[in-house]
Amino acid sequence: GEDKELVIAIDGPAGAGKSTVAKRVADTLSYIYIDTGAMYRALTLKALKQGLNLADEDEVAAMAKETEVKFKKVNEKEKVILDGVDVTDKIRTNKVSNNVSLVAKIKAVRERLVKLQREMAAQGGVVMDGRDIGTVVLPDADLKVFLNATVEERTMRRYEDLKESGEEVDFEKLKEEIIRRDEIDKNREVSPLKKAEDANEVDTTNLSISEVVEEILNLCQEV
Ligand code: DC
Repeated sequence: GEDKELVIAIDGPAGAGKSTVAKRVADTLSYIYIDTGAMYRALTLKALKQGLNLADEDEVAAMAKETEVKFKKVNEKEKVILDGVDVTDKIRTNKVSNNVSLVAKIKAVRERLVKLQREMAAQGGVVMDGRDIGTVVLPDADLKVFLNATVEERTMRRYEDLKESGEEVDFEKLKEEIIRRDEIDKNREVSPLKKAEDANEVDTTNLSISEVVEEILNLCQEV
């Protein structure tokens, strides 16, 4: 149907272009955009700040239970609010990136965030991106997309992002970190990163952002 408010799930590994593309698709359709990675990042930031041992799953889970993560649109920009404080920029550091997989593999943490994510999507008209959206969070999504790209291309994109935010990193080291993070995300016991059987896979390696957005909007027409 043309007028139905769809639920769109976008998954894929780090640097596949999910957030940029998902945001554009959401803007085009006047849908809400939900960046679930930001929610795992916010919890990781708090755990690091509190000096928690990230390997201590019970300790991190207890913290997660008492934490509020929300999104708020301010001047057309989506802000990530952790316990009432804007942490939008702080969750993008390489330190958070390198620790977030440890937090994201904790079952109780995922249960808490998945519950919040389902509530956010309940009204429809939503584009949600992450690792387990099509498989676990929104298995009945109207459209599922799995974005992928070569590890070199994904590293290059992260490299440029970090450089732009003023963080100098070594390309080879960053590539190793991305590979390591993907391994943890793909091999964890709870909700591993995986293409849903009914997801449309798009290789973004040689595509521009607009081309990927166009492809997804076309797929929406076919729903
Ligand atoms: O997309 P991102 O790089 O901001 O995600 C940060 C981390 O959070 C990533 O290592 C995997 C994890 N994550 C997850 O496990 N499940 C999600 N739905 C989203 C992110």
